[in-house]
Amino acid sequence: MADVYEPWDQLIRIVVLGRVLEVPERNLLLRQLQYVSEDVGMGRYCWNAECRSCEVHYTQPGDTAEHVGLACRLRGLPGMRLTRLAPEMRHNLGHTLAHAPREDEAAPPPTSSAAE
Ligand code: FES
Repeated sequence: MADVYEPWDQLIRIVVLGRVLEVPERNLLLRQLQYVSEDVGMGRYCWNAECRSCEVHYTQPGDTAEHVGLACRLRGLPGMRLTRLAPEMRHNLGHTLAHAPREDEAAPPPTSSAAE
């Protein structure tokens, strides 16, 4: 299973429908979501931008505009917020999201400027 991921060193924090998830950096968003929900790996996805079963609405830090994209083509970045998911994704992520902390419950993200 680990072979499906691009090399990564740390987890990054994204917010999906108000729930905080930690996913491997430098990977496609759909693969990142598979990391937190194995059901994504068994979902009905083409993985090549044809089926649109992975369509998401999202915002990025510092950009209030909402964008529409395909999770099989986007890389999730720290602070990314997914505001809408295609039905197949909602189905595959349902259990994970139900058990993930809400934003107001989650511990603050680690800072990159650690005390030295
Ligand atoms: S998985 Fe089919 S369009 Fe992304």
